[in-house]
Amino acid sequence: MLCSHLLAAVAAGLFGQALSFPSLPLVVEGPNMIDSTGAVIKVAGTNWPGHNDVMVPEGLQYKSIHDIVSDVKSLGMNVIRLTFAIEMVDQIFDNDGDDIDLQTAFSDALGEDVGATVLAQVLSNNPQFTAATKRIEVFDAVVEELNSQAIYVNLDNHISSGEWCCGGDDGNTWWGDTYFDAANWIRGLAFMAEHGASWDNLMSISLRNELREPTNNETLKATYNWETWYQYMKRAADAVNAANPDPLIILSGLNYDTTMQPVVRGEALEPGTDTFSFEDFEGYADKLAIELHNYDTKTTSCANLQGALYNGGAQAMNPDEESTVNVFPVLVTEFGFDQTEYESVYSTCLAEWLPHNTAGWMSWVIAGSYYKREGIVDYDEAWGLYNHDWSAWRNPDYVHELLVASIAATTEP
Ligand SMILES: *[C@@H]1O[C@H](CO)[C@@H](O)[C@H](O)[C@H]1NC(C)=O
Repeated sequence: MLCSHLLAAVAAGLFGQALSFPSLPLVVEGPNMIDSTGAVIKVAGTNWPGHNDVMVPEGLQYKSIHDIVSDVKSLGMNVIRLTFAIEMVDQIFDNDGDDIDLQTAFSDALGEDVGATVLAQVLSNNPQFTAATKRIEVFDAVVEELNSQAIYVNLDNHISSGEWCCGGDDGNTWWGDTYFDAANWIRGLAFMAEHGASWDNLMSISLRNELREPTNNETLKATYNWETWYQYMKRAADAVNAANPDPLIILSGLNYDTTMQPVVRGEALEPGTDTFSFEDFEGYADKLAIELHNYDTKTTSCANLQGALYNGGAQAMNPDEESTVNVFPVLVTEFGFDQTEYESVYSTCLAEWLPHNTAGWMSWVIAGSYYKREGIVDYDEAWGLYNHDWSAWRNPDYVHELLVASIAATTEP
């Protein structure tokens, strides 16, 4: 007895985190995310895109899921923002509930010949899959591997049509834009939320990435405001919560997700006069967090950068601030820079600021390259943590001198 208790205690001590992971669902208390053991959870990680043309998580033509996740883990990261396109779910519905297989997905996006070549590389690195594996089964496998290495998932609806995001005229800007159908969006979110009920490490779902003003449609532009925003956000949050009550729901604001100011300050959601109210999220008001993005990469002032983030909504972490009316955990779910410019004011300032002023953050981006981006196959991502073929860090100095310390300062306070 004594011996087995001792062994259990030693095992729990050695592998404490792994044994208790993931301790979900999370709830929100003030600016904190709290797990099922009562501990405050802070997250640090990166984006792993799965929303581009192929609509399969990137990089698998270069590496196995297991090895990518192991690299992420080696940095101390504990979260991945996994992105998907609504178009993937639309295709599932169009196909009587059955997802498209990898053969079709790669061929449709890259053309028959290139698609076959890239798929063969994916399968060679990831022999658990075949050409008949469905895209969503690849998402499942990514999530499962992340879970087995104690990494949370923040699932993000990045865009409606499967392609690189975001611009003012890409047809995905705002509800009613060419490809951004509100009903399909809500259906897609609910589908993924329900599907995600089988993902043990799904901590949160972001409703929409980088809402923005359409620049090519005056009629649509007239609806680009906070009042419209609130109507859709409430509907989507209700749908996600009904489909799966466990994950936190992440609200993102206007202007490419750079501001949540009127929500946080309890100001009128214009042109209407109503204000944000937790009472509008009946039964799950303790499930809401907000997100911000920042790409002010050329800034020469750390104070200005911090001020923009604070006023944009990060002040929601500070209940003592007089103008903070609605308190939330704040996640900075995108920031990034060309990896050769890692000694900039921008990168050093954020590395210092993020751990102490947010509930968590995710950099853009793990991907050293994409299957396809903006029409180019095997597109090189200068902002990627990985080099082109995902074989090493693109800028090891940045990773080891700044990134790892910032992760540790966030997750091990
Ligand atoms: C502009 O947006 C409106 C509202 O969504 C839509 O009905 C209309 O078709 C759009 N016009 C063009 C030219 O895309």
